[in-house]
Amino acid sequence: MEKTHVAIVGMGTVGTGVARLLLDHGDRLARHAGRVLWLTKALVRDLSKDRGIADFPSGILTDNLEEILENKQISVVAHLIGGIEPARTIMLQLLESGKDVVTANKALLAQHGGELFDRARSLGRTIAFEASVGGGIPIIANITQCFTANQIISLRGILNGTSNFILTQMSERGVDYDRALATAQRLGYAEADPTMDVNGSDTTQKLAILAHLAFGVRIDWKEIYRQGLESFTIEDIRYAEKLGYRIRLLATAQLIDDNLELHVSPTLIRNGRPLAEVRGPYNAITVVGDAVGDMFFHGQGAGQMPTASAVVADMIDTAAGRTDITFRRLQLWSDRQCEIEMIPYWKTIGRYYMRYLVADEPGVLSQITGILGSHRISISSIIQHEPTESSEPNKVPLIIMTHECSESEASRAHEAIRALQSVDSECYKLRVTEG
Ligand code: NAP
Ligand code: HSE
Repeated sequence: MEKTHVAIVGMGTVGTGVARLLLDHGDRLARHAGRVLWLTKALVRDLSKDRGIADFPSGILTDNLEEILENKQISVVAHLIGGIEPARTIMLQLLESGKDVVTANKALLAQHGGELFDRARSLGRTIAFEASVGGGIPIIANITQCFTANQIISLRGILNGTSNFILTQMSERGVDYDRALATAQRLGYAEADPTMDVNGSDTTQKLAILAHLAFGVRIDWKEIYRQGLESFTIEDIRYAEKLGYRIRLLATAQLIDDNLELHVSPTLIRNGRPLAEVRGPYNAITVVGDAVGDMFFHGQGAGQMPTASAVVADMIDTAAGRTDITFRRLQLWSDRQCEIEMIPYWKTIGRYYMRYLVADEPGVLSQITGILGSHRISISSIIQHEPTESSEPNKVPLIIMTHECSESEASRAHEAIRALQSVDSECYKLRVTEG
């Protein structure tokens, strides 16, 4: 059988998983590719570091990128280093030296997709990126190939395994935030800098990629409204549970009258709905197409082998020539005209959960409901708890669930309530969804 010589750049969590699949399951991969994927080189920074692969063939590991760039036999490279630089420069070097690239680096694509895809197209090369969103879930292939008879109407998803792992550890096992994050790092779910995981940046980068594929919009991910885990506390998780909801970091892309709403926000999702049931490092995405209706994708969104599964599938498709066809037809990140306009976040409509710590005095509740009424916000439920032993003296928590209203009215009302003398400045406002 013919050989395709392949290389790996970056032998961390994902790169090591890719090497394992190539070395341990070569026959299986060859059956699907119609050719052998022959691991020729693997680039690392530190040659002395243990990669956890006992029978690694000698001569493959290198700390010299030139050995890959100058090797004319190598045609497909899995680019598995994170961040922007030197990842961007290395990807350009790989394309310029005639390699087709497979990557999992969503930060790089969300920021420099236009430049990288233009360069690949002009050089006649390809970039495959299934692993950049949803880890092992084949969401990119589904959107770019299987939904093409549809106008996608909405995409809603849990797209970050680390933050979902932290949330479920905190809510279901009572683990504190720092320990849950440390475990996510140890298990290989988190980015090298986990700030991107927990502040919603990683989810927003993935949303920007999905929105581009599904709706053709080319948006700077930093322009998408984003909130992360810092915008609520364990107490909100507990109050949400009492109300019959779970908090999840939700990415939303929704067409409304041919305009697009995009945001990433911790959201109370009604218990029993599929997205509320997503636990641990799992991700899930609901896609609604005008012909196909609702679809639900669920699987491990982070971790070594699920991500390696997506990377190696892309390597097989690239070696077999399938990537080339889709890559050229799709004209990804090109300057194609897009008619869809963004809906500013403040104009979006939603239901809200609001939590305040208020003085336990006459008239406070009526002040707060008065403010909501003056902003035309209708209350769906309101709960004022008795003070507990651990409460501050004369302070009680107040939780309000609203009916639908605009984000701008909800924010203005929230700020006006926060400014009341009888209300503590530490207060919270989260979106709510029933499905
Ligand atoms: P990682 O464990 O931090 O591994 C990155 C590897 O890149 C390290 O082994 C590092 O080498 C190597 N590296 C960095 N700069 C290099 C350079 N200049 N030259 C050679 N090697 C270099 O990261 P990861 O978790 O595998 O993630 C890799 C990519 O996949 C990231 O873009 C990430 O966002 C994405 N991703 C990760 C997951 C996941 O679950 N982990 C899932 C989906 C996507 P040394 O080991 O020698 O320092
Ligand atoms: N750090 C990312 C996550 C890896 O936790 O989801 C997968 O993209």
